[in-house]
Amino acid sequence: MEKINYQLKERSRKVELPENLGFGLIFTDHIFEMDYLPEIGWHNPTIKPLENLPMHPASMFIHYGQAIFEGLKAFKTEKGEVVIFRPEKHFKRLNRSARRLCIPEVDVDFMLQALTELVNIEKEWIPIKKGESLYIRPFVYGSDSFLGVKQSSGYKLIILLSPVGAYYPEGFKPVKILVQDKYVRAVRGGIGECKTPANYAASLFAADEARKLGYTQVLWLDAIEQKYIEEVGTMNIFVRFKDEIATPKLSGTILPGVTRDSVIHILKDWGMNITERNVSIDEVISAYEKGDLLGIFGTGTAAIISPVGWLRYKDNEMTINNGQPDDLSLKLFDKITSIQYGLAEDKFNWITHVSKSEVEV
Ligand code: COI
Repeated sequence: MEKINYQLKERSRKVELPENLGFGLIFTDHIFEMDYLPEIGWHNPTIKPLENLPMHPASMFIHYGQAIFEGLKAFKTEKGEVVIFRPEKHFKRLNRSARRLCIPEVDVDFMLQALTELVNIEKEWIPIKKGESLYIRPFVYGSDSFLGVKQSSGYKLIILLSPVGAYYPEGFKPVKILVQDKYVRAVRGGIGECKTPANYAASLFAADEARKLGYTQVLWLDAIEQKYIEEVGTMNIFVRFKDEIATPKLSGTILPGVTRDSVIHILKDWGMNITERNVSIDEVISAYEKGDLLGIFGTGTAAIISPVGWLRYKDNEMTINNGQPDDLSLKLFDKITSIQYGLAEDKFNWITHVSKSEVEV
């Protein structure tokens, strides 16, 4: 791969972040960008000022959705070091989504280099308060201008950076979830396991209906029997029974979440009984009725851990752990954030340090 081109803008003033960052509202000064053509592969890697994309109205991804993305985070540790959480795992997942969407794969080592360069250039934008971070959004889209349905031949990859706070306005407070028994998110053999815009578009209508009824998000059931739990909103789900913590196994319809994987590793390390298996909504209800349901939580990069305080399925209303986060969700949240902020040992080698880059800004 060629060397990265740098087109850096003069920084005329110190970066000032607002008190309340929200999620995905503000963006740093620069992006990383590169292009793909079948004859030359990925080329023209450039770090350049953020600007609007010049785009033909027939750009294929707008019409047929051939696009993929990732979401990961960079942090400033207590010691002022800049670190990124599990970037390699995220770029490997980007390639997995790429294969399914007929998009050319990227060189993971090169992407790690490009990302660390970009994050180093933008390190002043990394917030330092606990709960805040620099959200990293790599994405790839089919860029040909053509209106026939086929895979694009040209692609663009961009990495966009956004300083963020909590994903849900509730923060770590437990959310209210409606079990969705009418619409489905993904079906076996489909693209549910890919991080691709279509999956999020497919979720909007049900999420909006739930919101109008006073719920934060929906819990998705499998599309065939509408019996097994799959994901909660845009997150993976974990159910804590009396003697077991269970999460739906990856069967093609569920996103292989990086936080899901981190939680499984940590729980195993703590010697807990964590299983990946099918969990039916009936099993959840019957555990609740017996008093054996100790907690439910979602996991994802954006919110990390999001406890479920209330769950409704048809006429069953369940209040979980009195609407309070259970102690395990709190412990997991604390463990993951402590690793991210450099306060706990990085036992699993999840942290990539962003050292000095080729260019100084
Ligand atoms: C996550 O990181 O949990 C998500 O999937 C949300 C993201 C699409 C904003």
